[in-house]
Amino acid sequence: MRITRRKLIGSTVRVGLGFGLSRPLWACGEAPVAPPPSPEKALLTFPPELTDGSLSAARASQVIRPGLSAELWTLGRTYPSPTIRRRRGDTFELELTNELGEDTNIHWHGLSVPADMDGHPRDSVADGQARVYRFPIAQRAGTYWYHPHPHERTAKQVYLGMAGFFIVGDEEEDQIDLPRGELDVPLLLQDRRLTTGAIEYVPTMGDVANGYLGETLFVNGVPSARLEVASTLYRFRALNGSNARTFKLAFADGRSMHLIGTDGGLIDAPVATNELWLAPAERADLLVDFSSDPIGTSVKWMSESFAVGDAGAGHGGHGSAGTLVRQGARLELLQIDVARAGPPRTVPTSLAQLERLDPTAALRTRTFELIPREGVTSGMHVINGQVFALDRIDEEVPFGELEIWRVESKDSVSIHPMHLHGAQFRVVSRSGLALPSDRGWKDTVLVFPNETVELAVRFTDYRGAYLFHCHTLEHEDDGMMLNVNVT
Ligand code: C2O
Ligand code: CU
Ligand code: CU
Repeated sequence: MRITRRKLIGSTVRVGLGFGLSRPLWACGEAPVAPPPSPEKALLTFPPELTDGSLSAARASQVIRPGLSAELWTLGRTYPSPTIRRRRGDTFELELTNELGEDTNIHWHGLSVPADMDGHPRDSVADGQARVYRFPIAQRAGTYWYHPHPHERTAKQVYLGMAGFFIVGDEEEDQIDLPRGELDVPLLLQDRRLTTGAIEYVPTMGDVANGYLGETLFVNGVPSARLEVASTLYRFRALNGSNARTFKLAFADGRSMHLIGTDGGLIDAPVATNELWLAPAERADLLVDFSSDPIGTSVKWMSESFAVGDAGAGHGGHGSAGTLVRQGARLELLQIDVARAGPPRTVPTSLAQLERLDPTAALRTRTFELIPREGVTSGMHVINGQVFALDRIDEEVPFGELEIWRVESKDSVSIHPMHLHGAQFRVVSRSGLALPSDRGWKDTVLVFPNETVELAVRFTDYRGAYLFHCHTLEHEDDGMMLNVNVT
């Protein structure tokens, strides 16, 4: 495995736990003195990097924070899984060796790959076996990711640590003046339950209904993290890798973020916003400006409280964690400390050329009705009345034909982030308010309770069996998934 450790933001390079030891020490009486960051915060770290080679699915223990070593399930014996970086036009090849003790596989979320390379749960790798994934990267530059997708075990394996970034670059993106190198920061956002002092996946019936929610926010595998930045413009690649928690991203001081990219790469022009929804599996590529912040400024990046998808209240919480664990609870994601001076930079005015999908040219409309568990005799999550079956084809979709997929949520409680394999799509309409992310290429779309969202979908890369499912992983494993056969 070719792995390199990426240089960290800040002056210390460390993998695992990092503490803020690199603060300047000021002589007594000298001003201004940056207030010391709260001591319990750990410096954000980054996973190792990999281009190709091999990865083993294996259990490994890792120090999560002082005094807490967790038994994790990993790809490559590290949590998060290694960050893969490749260019459009490359051929990617990786051998997965399964030493986990149960079936697993890898799905390349957001990448368009041949159906037999896509990590369909039918294509799992048994314990003790290996398989090679090999595919060309024909994708736009963007922030993609990978995780296991075995039948009814995705939620557990992802929760226990198996997920990583797959970042693709291309020439179109190279030509745009965007922050690069250490100013381009991948941030994997995940909530975890640490109430028992361990990382364990033991869902109750309530957790299956509402999703497995945690009270502690991990960024790149670090709980209660802080990031040291220079006073300049940054690119944050936010990936919501939570099983079920939706974030409403905002800075505590109200500063704006500029959305520059969505699941399928750059959008046409930056959109300034103070708030941004990010449901499980969605990615947001953001520019955040710290250029006018004096050194010593400390900003908190939050998930603000919200009242939709609120069934988590009273479920799954223990004692005081009960109120925090609920969907929509206000949580701190990351403390950002402006620690040194940086060059002033501006947000570009235009970004990428976006192909339009003209919804009036669609050849047909398909409807997908989302019904909560309670409303169904099987007691499981369904789409169009069906619980997922490995070998049943639910939709036959002609290759290359533009369609409208109408997703109607009949659920008054839960958010359902609907995800499609094998193609990126566009959001055509939403019965609720339009979201800034609706203007880009998407593979996962946030569907609010009782909302109807219309998508323009066209498969242009490969034929074969792909999946359409809710990316609340407990819902997916509980049957909220269909087989889509592209013919
Ligand atoms: Cu990220 Cu079918 O999943
Ligand atoms: Cu996917
Ligand atoms: Cu769902």
